[in-house]
Amino acid sequence: MRTEAVRPDGSPAAARDADLIDRVIQSYRPDGPFMVLRAKELQAIYTQYRLDPRMPVPAVFAVESLAHFLQDGITALFRALNLTSDSLVLSVGEGNGAPSRLLAKLVGCRIVGVDVSPLQIANAREVARVHGVGHLVEYVQQNASALDLGAQRFDAAYFNETMCHWEDKLTALRRTRAHLKPKALLGINDWLRGRRGTLNDAYEAVPAFRGLYQPDVWRQISLGETCRLLEEAGFQVLRAEERTDLVDRGLKRRLGELQRLPQNDEPVRRGVRYYEGMLAAHYDYVCYGRVIARAA
Ligand SMILES: C[S@@+](CC[C@H](N)C(=O)[O-])C[C@H]1O[C@@H](n2cnc3c(N)ncnc32)[C@H](O)[C@@H]1O
Repeated sequence: MRTEAVRPDGSPAAARDADLIDRVIQSYRPDGPFMVLRAKELQAIYTQYRLDPRMPVPAVFAVESLAHFLQDGITALFRALNLTSDSLVLSVGEGNGAPSRLLAKLVGCRIVGVDVSPLQIANAREVARVHGVGHLVEYVQQNASALDLGAQRFDAAYFNETMCHWEDKLTALRRTRAHLKPKALLGINDWLRGRRGTLNDAYEAVPAFRGLYQPDVWRQISLGETCRLLEEAGFQVLRAEERTDLVDRGLKRRLGELQRLPQNDEPVRRGVRYYEGMLAAHYDYVCYGRVIARAA
């Protein structure tokens, strides 16, 4: 397992990035305001609702993931990457690993998941076993902007809802590009800047959002800026799509489902609070988009 020191050099940019990373890691903790469920807690919920975690179905995914694109939006991203069971896929900003577990179940391919948070990596590794895909997923703790997987070359890569945190996106994209085979596809689902600003601004402006994450952990950009960075890093953009309305409708539906469940359940209550806070920030402080690009 390769790891990297969080402060790679003494430059102001590196110090800024390291401070951001510290806050990001604090944002995604099992005991944090954002709900990261451990393997044992997930297992208990699957048992309670009689769900088989080895199945690639939305009811299972909804328990293990707060991803805003939901299972449908993530499956659509995977479909665009033309994957087969022989593919080796890179996921940067892997988080607790729910999208990669879904991909492993749907396609049967191997995935290397990279995340800067040791907590997320440890959790992903544990949960993969519950879902019966431990043999298909591997995890590495690294900062995206210092990505270094040696000589490994991937058939495709994806970033689901993570680039919005990255300080140095251009370096991260260049490093991803260097680990892709020629003509390999990269798919991105991301949180974009809203009409009035980023979620850093929502921290002040939207009371329901405050407290869901640490302050100042957002580095959202626009769809156009994402495309420009991709081109600069050596990718050809094939498709760039606004997805805000779709995500907004999906999260409202998800909130309604949770509101109809018994509210004495802690994960249900936290889920309701989470979706209410995020929906209150939609459009003004966060929009959504998808980009598919090819390594040139
Ligand atoms: C919203 S979660 C998304 C996780 C996962 N992709 C998913 O869809 O479930 C964002 C993840 O990005 C990770 N992250 C943020 N900045 C990062 C960086 N610079 N390098 C690697 N991972 C990063 C965080 O630790 C967190 O686990």
